[in-house]
Amino acid sequence: MVTFAPSPPPPDSAPAHIVFEHLGKTYAGAPAAALDDVSFQVARGEIFGIIGRSGAGKSTLLRTVNMLERPSRGHVRIDGADIGRLDEDGLVALRRRVGMIFQHFNLLSAKTVFENVALPLRVAGVPRLDIAPRVMALLDLVGLAGKAQAYPAMLSGGQKQRVGIARALVHQPEILLCDEATSALDPETTEQILALLRDINQRFGLTVVLITHDMSVIRQACDRVLVLDHGRVVEQGAVRQVFLAPRADATLALLRPLRALHQALPPAANEPDPGAARGAMDEASGHAAGAHALYQEIPRHVSAAG
Ligand SMILES: Nc1ncnc2c1ncn2[C@@H]1O[C@H](COP(=O)(O)OP(=O)(O)O)[C@@H](O)[C@H]1O
Ligand SMILES: [Mg+2]
Repeated sequence: MVTFAPSPPPPDSAPAHIVFEHLGKTYAGAPAAALDDVSFQVARGEIFGIIGRSGAGKSTLLRTVNMLERPSRGHVRIDGADIGRLDEDGLVALRRRVGMIFQHFNLLSAKTVFENVALPLRVAGVPRLDIAPRVMALLDLVGLAGKAQAYPAMLSGGQKQRVGIARALVHQPEILLCDEATSALDPETTEQILALLRDINQRFGLTVVLITHDMSVIRQACDRVLVLDHGRVVEQGAVRQVFLAPRADATLALLRPLRALHQALPPAANEPDPGAARGAMDEASGHAAGAHALYQEIPRHVSAAG
C-alpha cells in the first residue's frame, strides 16, 4: 500500500498552495529577462497548466518551485512560507515535498527500474527494509510491478515516464512538477500518462503544476491554465474559458494547430454549425468560430505537438 492520505478534490475556495509574487529572472549575459513580473497562485489539489512557446520561460518558472532556479526578484511562497529564505537543510526538505518529472525521463541507464525508484530513498537514509515495500507499491501504482528488474533501455517511452513518476512520488510529495513530461511521447501514450497524473492528483490530493507547449495537453489534463510569453503572464483562467474566449495573441497562436487539425477532421455527428457555435468569430485574430466545438470535439488522443 502507498501511504498517501487520500483527499477529496479541492472546493472552489481552496486556499492557495503556491503563490508567485512579482517574480523576475534575468540570466547573466542574457539580453532579455526570462521572467518579468510574474504573479499568480496555484490552489491546493488542482492541476495547473503553464503553456508558452519555446523560450517563453516555462522551465525557469517551474524550477523556482523547488529552488533549482533562484528568482532575481520577487518571491515564491508554499503554504505561505517564502522558500527563498530556506537554508540548505530547508532546501533538502523542500525538494522532498516537491517531486519533478522531465521530458527525457532522466533515468539512470545502468540501474534497474527498482533501483531508479529506490535511489532517492537510499540517499535519504531510509532503512533498507522499508525501501522495497515502498518501491513496489509505487511501481504497482504506475502499472510497472512486473518491470522492477528491467533496465530503462528495455522500456517504452511511456514506461520510462511511469518510472519517472514513481521516482517523483517516493517521498510522498505534496506538489508534482511536470516539465514537458509528455513531449517525447506519442499521442496515445500522452493520453495514458495524463490519465495517470489525473488519477494520482485525485487519489492523493497532490497539487500538480504542468508545463507544456501543447494545448491538447492542457485540455486533457488541467483545471486552470496560464499563458506565458516572453517571460510575462499574458492570459490565465479556467481551461474552458481560455479555449472558448482566448484574448492574447500568444494564446491564439498556441490554439492554431488544434484549430487546423479540427478543420481537417470530418465533422462529428453532433457538431454544431460553426457559424452558430458559441465563441464568436474574431476575424482580426483569425480565431475559429468553432472554438466551442473545438473544445468539445477535439479527440482526446490528438496532440498538436509538432
Ligand atoms: N541557464 C541559463 N542561462 C542563460 N539563459 C537561460 C538559461 N536557461 C534558460 N535561459 C534562457 O531563458 C529563456 C527562458 O528559457 P526557458 O525557461 O528554458 O523557456 P521554456 O522552458 O519556455 O522553453 C530563454 O531565452 C533561454 O534561452
Ligand atoms: Mg522548457
